[in-house]
Amino acid sequence: MLNILRGDITACEVDAIVNAANNSLLGGGGVDGAIHRAAGPKLLEECRTLGGCETGQAKITRGYDLPAKWVIHVVGPVWQGGGHNEEALLASCYKNALRLAGEKGLSRIAFPSVSTGVYRFPLELAAPIALRTILAENKKWASLEELFMVCFNEATERAYKNAHVILEGI
Ligand code: APR
Repeated sequence: MLNILRGDITACEVDAIVNAANNSLLGGGGVDGAIHRAAGPKLLEECRTLGGCETGQAKITRGYDLPAKWVIHVVGPVWQGGGHNEEALLASCYKNALRLAGEKGLSRIAFPSVSTGVYRFPLELAAPIALRTILAENKKWASLEELFMVCFNEATERAYKNAHVILEGI
């Protein structure tokens, strides 16, 4: 089941929240900064042991002071106009995040809108890529039950709800 809602992902009481991180995994602004602030310093300590993360890949850590038990860190592509494999790299963030969740037998996962902030990936393009990938990967992992796309602002919520209507209609 995929739910699209407005909110702050750091408040989600789910098995895992997904973080839109950068290659260093050492924190930053946006949702990355919010997650590290809410999780506390132990999250950064664990991230330091991971040796970074390739764009399109995912790594999992504990959630520490977050209500979520785990944080799945993904690194989305920076939008460079569309000719640098950005769409495939964005899709692989969602695919790899759900693979890690499925391998751990998790059932409730919350995503932010990866790459559509600082990394400037166009929202109207990112939303269908994200939802198509989430819906396809969801079928592969029996443990997955409730998936959430947590939108931080009105424009993001509208883009994902529109994309969802179109995808459901297919
Ligand atoms: N909860 C949910 N979504 C949030 C939150 C939050 N607390 N804070 C921000 N967002 C949303 C943004 O509004 C945007 O829709 O997350 C989406 C992703 O935006 P960014 O956080 O800027 O992430 P991204 O575009 O992937 O850029 C990643 O930004 O913060 C740095 O360290 C990070 O270098 C990395 C880059």
